[in-house]
Amino acid sequence: MANRYPFITFLRKKKHPVWFFLPAILLFMGCNNQDRTWSVYKADATSSSYSVLKEINKENVYQLKLAWTFNPGDAVEGSRFAGSQCNPIILDGVMYAASARHRIYAIDAGNGKQIWSFDPYNGGPGGGSFRGVTYWEDGNDKRILFTGGDDLFALNAETGTPIREFGKNGKVSMNVGIRDDPEKISVKPTSPGIVYNDLLIIGNEVSELYGAQPGYIRAYNIRTGKLEWTFHTIPKPGEPGYDTWPKDAWKYAGGANDWGGMSVDEKRGMVFLATGSPSYDFYGYDRLGKNLFGNCVVALDAKTGKYIWHFQTIHHDLWDYDLPAPPNLVTVEKDGKKIDAVAQTSKVGFLYVLNRETGASLFPIEERPVPASDVPGEEAWPTQPIPLKPKPYSRQYMTTDDLSDFSVTAHDSLIKLFNSLRYEGLFTPPSIKGTLNLPGTIGGSEWGGAAYDPATGILYLKANESPEIDLLQKIDPATDASANPSIHEDGKKIYTSYCATCHKADRKGDEPLYPSLLDLKKRMTEAEALNKIKGGSGKMPPFAGILKGHEDGIIDYLFEKTDERMLQKESGITEIRNNRLSNIEVKKENVDTAITYLNVTAYAQLKDPEGHPAIKPPWGTLNAINLNTGDYAWTIPVGNNADLQKKGEPITGSTGSPGPIVTRGGLVFLGGSRDRKFQAFDKATGSLLWETTLPGFASSTPCTYQSNGKQYIAVSVAGSKESPAGTIMAFALPD
Ligand code: HEC
Repeated sequence: MANRYPFITFLRKKKHPVWFFLPAILLFMGCNNQDRTWSVYKADATSSSYSVLKEINKENVYQLKLAWTFNPGDAVEGSRFAGSQCNPIILDGVMYAASARHRIYAIDAGNGKQIWSFDPYNGGPGGGSFRGVTYWEDGNDKRILFTGGDDLFALNAETGTPIREFGKNGKVSMNVGIRDDPEKISVKPTSPGIVYNDLLIIGNEVSELYGAQPGYIRAYNIRTGKLEWTFHTIPKPGEPGYDTWPKDAWKYAGGANDWGGMSVDEKRGMVFLATGSPSYDFYGYDRLGKNLFGNCVVALDAKTGKYIWHFQTIHHDLWDYDLPAPPNLVTVEKDGKKIDAVAQTSKVGFLYVLNRETGASLFPIEERPVPASDVPGEEAWPTQPIPLKPKPYSRQYMTTDDLSDFSVTAHDSLIKLFNSLRYEGLFTPPSIKGTLNLPGTIGGSEWGGAAYDPATGILYLKANESPEIDLLQKIDPATDASANPSIHEDGKKIYTSYCATCHKADRKGDEPLYPSLLDLKKRMTEAEALNKIKGGSGKMPPFAGILKGHEDGIIDYLFEKTDERMLQKESGITEIRNNRLSNIEVKKENVDTAITYLNVTAYAQLKDPEGHPAIKPPWGTLNAINLNTGDYAWTIPVGNNADLQKKGEPITGSTGSPGPIVTRGGLVFLGGSRDRKFQAFDKATGSLLWETTLPGFASSTPCTYQSNGKQYIAVSVAGSKESPAGTIMAFALPD
């Protein structure tokens, strides 16, 4: 549906003098519970993470106090640190959000009291990454749309009950309509879909490994649940981009998915996506070519899903350098002219600023030669686009001088390691001897994306620095899975014989009946687990007799104590096999014998032997970039690891995925660092104006809204010993 309060968007475009609308604004803002300034994930359809509210401002923010805490109390038994990534939305005094366990709640935004709740998992553990819900209305028909597991749900926003006429009794399987067998795959969107008229346009998260599902973009009819259009991010014959892949790749290649969300330009009827890398992330022998529309900003006709333009940020990605957040719709002033544009953050550390109608970059970008791959079968693309402005917001190159030195022996060992790796700077392909990768897969800017202040043209973003090693090992699924017999193997044997019937071979369980045993170490101690297994629990029989003499083995197996690399390889092989078996386009003969490589150190931050980050601080910064000039207004480290901060040196900064928000009150709010701080900065200078220490780390991008005329700032807070479910905390000025 179209923006019901078009004058807000209207005003942002700044084509009309504000005073003309002042009476309307005052009426709008003053009405009890009529606030819709944060009614969409990241504030609005343009993903601005910006609020016009200014009751809380530079002068009074120091008085900010906790107003209420919402504790869903829904933790899985034994869980402690689960963090909801949900950015709440607020409509007319009601907040809609999800807990870490992925239950959906409607909450009175003025006092934190629950109005209704809905459990998409029907008693099962739930959990997993989940960043928010979507609101839609037509007259009195008000709906909340969101995904739980691989289903898309529609609820009545007032009662929390499923909309019966939507799909099958209120839900639609997201597995249907993707290339592979819906019975065998699991397509789980992690970021909310976006509304255009009666359509919900949504991406997904898919496997990162060989044989992954393709990340098709889909639009569902919000009234009926019907799939209205699909955009093939891995093109089929005859579609744009088809010639950037091997000719049959559309039958087996996967990924190229939008998992971070989208933006809509309602006036132009355009939707803007940002895709991740094609699968497999680190080796592309079966996808030689540029691989459109992987790592692309794509503009589509929102009504039909028809292609309009694309900009590819990485050709033939070999580093998992996804575009992890929705593009910000911005307006840039250039040579005295206003140009509507999109600004795209990335994991590689570049900000891309593109003309909204053509996709052309507003700043110079050069295609530069990059190193070739030395892995058999691989052909790295010979050039990559390098934006000359704005300059990167994360370090993209390091030498031995940048290695951390927390002790002499730790530093020496890092130098030895560094010198043993392949490293020719940014875009050095993964290798069999190991390649250094900086800023790394959790480097650059993450899913929180950027906040955009339309009044100043400044974009705010959190940046991370987290080197890792891309170490490729050949896998032979036929022999690798049965490696050396060990304690681990003994535990695995017991597990396969006695536990897999309920908890399944991949330990993912069969929810809601049988819990997943993945990440067990995050939920309970070894002794607690052993007691539970020996004594039985609920529908689980006691296993004390069977476990005798195998205690170490089962604990080693469940707590993944044996070499992480071996385990990564093993679970990778299982996933690849399952992916390939789910494909309905390709014959199955080669499922077990295809020779491929796995990055056995993937997604892990490089550390010294004592467990400290391998690169010198800062590990996380907050950046303000003027989009009109491409220059930085300011950069500051954010987050601190006090144990590692050296005497007389600035705070260390810390990695974190949530994004900042910016307000007309002159403030930037940000959480997400492990020091559990939630902070407000002066948006003009970056100076710290207010902070509080939360019971857990602030695990989402914050939101701000008005309820009964009072402004609040709210954020999801991760679980702690006292409240393992996590909470939502809202802050306001004293009455
Ligand atoms: C008949 C089905 C069944 C079998 C067989 C089974 N379990 Fe369970 N298991 C369950 C159920 C059901 C639960 C949840 C119990 C509860 O809610 O208290 C559970 C819970 C657990 C938990 C706690 C998980 C958590 O997150 O709280 C662990 C650990 C566990 N099982 C391990 C094992 C091991 C190891 C084996 C094999 C030796 C095994 N289970 C065999 C059904 C089974």
